[in-house]
Amino acid sequence: MAHGHKSDEKIVYVGDSRVQAKSSRMIPQDFSAYPGKSEVFIPNFLLKEWMVGVVVLMGILVLVMSEAAPLGYPADPTNTEIIPMPDWYFLFMYQLLKYPYTSGSWVVLGTVGVPGILFGALLLAPFLDTGKERKFYKRPIASTLMFLSLAAVTYLTVYSWQHYQHELAAKNLIPEHIKREQEMHASGGEGGGSPVKKPAASQAAAIVAPDDPAASIYQKSTCLQCHGGDLKGMPSAKIPALRGVGDGHDKAAILDIIKNGKGNMQAQYDANIAKGLTADDIDKLADWLSKQKK
Ligand code: HEC
Repeated sequence: MAHGHKSDEKIVYVGDSRVQAKSSRMIPQDFSAYPGKSEVFIPNFLLKEWMVGVVVLMGILVLVMSEAAPLGYPADPTNTEIIPMPDWYFLFMYQLLKYPYTSGSWVVLGTVGVPGILFGALLLAPFLDTGKERKFYKRPIASTLMFLSLAAVTYLTVYSWQHYQHELAAKNLIPEHIKREQEMHASGGEGGGSPVKKPAASQAAAIVAPDDPAASIYQKSTCLQCHGGDLKGMPSAKIPALRGVGDGHDKAAILDIIKNGKGNMQAQYDANIAKGLTADDIDKLADWLSKQKK
């Protein structure tokens, strides 16, 4: 013990049994305590992760550039020959909604009820299933529920897909992406996969009098929804081009088609009046179209 200021005295510190030695149990060992088995997060670990990330990203970039994303056909409101399908990972939900107690007046049960219970249970699982056991065969309830859900999802997915194939066969339809691929191969497999076949040189008539005021009337009409803003029509949907239409139809014939329709084209007169065109506009439009000669 130190008393006074005697410089030769030895100072001795003694522990106090009432004060607990600080436990080092909770403080994780420094990584340097494991030479060769650990590393610093910054920069070593981060740098490695980053390099892996770059390699993956380059792979995706190369894939994206070598395999251009195919364009679909232009949207076609007149096409009824299409079976809309969700992406494959939603097929089971789609199939679920075909059953009597998940559709019609029960549709809320199908769209909110069942998925809500399933995903809600998944959210609550950590709170409901607090057992320490980790092996799946020692957790019968959780495992059974999981296998049942997996089986149900698999069944619904497979069933939905088969139903779709049967529908296609029954209606004698070829899905668009397959049709597109066939057309691409037929046209010599030229790259890009652009679905709209370029019109042959003989077909590609120029637009006559593109500066005529009637050209801007056309742009406000219903016609361009089908015949296209460029008058090229939609060959894939059997909608004829209006370029060169004057060769086969005079003004009166075109007015008649607008008023009464033709074949698969319904009458367009009222729809255009409703869009704000006047009878005079439509007359000018027909006149301009009749001048579209090759
Ligand atoms: C809903 C789509 C649609 C709209 C909108 C539409 N058409 Fe058509 N049109 C067609 C289809 C399809 C045909 C082919 C009809 C057939 O022969 O069966 C056609 C054919 C025609 C033809 C005959 C072409 C030919 O070579 O025989 C003319 C002319 C024509 N349309 C003008 C117009 C005009 C003008 C408008 C706007 C006022 C218009 N169409 C709006 C779908 C449409």
